[in-house]
Amino acid sequence: MPKPLVIGNWKMNGSLELTSELIHSIESSIDAKISCEVGLCVPFVYIDLARRILTTQQLSIGAQNISAYSGGAYTGEVSAAMLAEFGCRWVLIGHSERRQLFKETDNELVLKLKLAQENDMCAVFCVGETQQERESGKAFSVIERQIKTLLDDDNVCLEKVVFAYEPVWAIGTGLTATPEEAQKVHAFIRDLLRNKIGQSADKIRIIYGGSVKPENAQSLFDQQDINGGLIGGASLDKDAFLSICQNAK
Ligand code: PGA
Repeated sequence: MPKPLVIGNWKMNGSLELTSELIHSIESSIDAKISCEVGLCVPFVYIDLARRILTTQQLSIGAQNISAYSGGAYTGEVSAAMLAEFGCRWVLIGHSERRQLFKETDNELVLKLKLAQENDMCAVFCVGETQQERESGKAFSVIERQIKTLLDDDNVCLEKVVFAYEPVWAIGTGLTATPEEAQKVHAFIRDLLRNKIGQSADKIRIIYGGSVKPENAQSLFDQQDINGGLIGGASLDKDAFLSICQNAK
């Protein structure tokens, strides 16, 4: 079984003060009760502050996006190499907000993922269907399409990718996939990976995101193929976030 992983995704929230407070208090409360690995994906501008505060190995910092280009005349972009220089361990790739609001395409996301890997960062590749896609019975085919671009590219090291299943209808809505619904999709993702890389797929972490709270974390994380969570709203609340982490054993 892969070691469980819980990643907080602050999205475009925070301030210098909140970053300092939250990271200090999360770090000082990480103790023996938390056995999972913990990551925090903070806005770009707070990455440096966050990593300077950290002293424990159990907690690491990540980014929420990277450029699909390695460098050059791309105003406003931040490259994978720059993030690596600031000690980022994680980078979210293909979050549904990036896919929907910023029109990021499957092909662009593979470029980003490969740049993250070339710079020794762990890509957290997000997939998930919308409400409409689920209702029209397309959830599995959408997820297969989203993952296929990675499976088809021999330069992607699948073993080093973390997959995050985030049903779009569950993000920030308070609705959560039931543990059984989520497990079905996680098992489906693992099967896709198994078909490509065999038993190594069993070691890949597939985490769940979408309104994870202290109240539902345990039942989700108890599922065989759910190896942790990607936490949005609740990651901005220290007690809620730590309680979710405690449930990932
Ligand atoms: P949520 O967000 O926990 O607020 O639903 C999850 C995410 O977007 O990663």
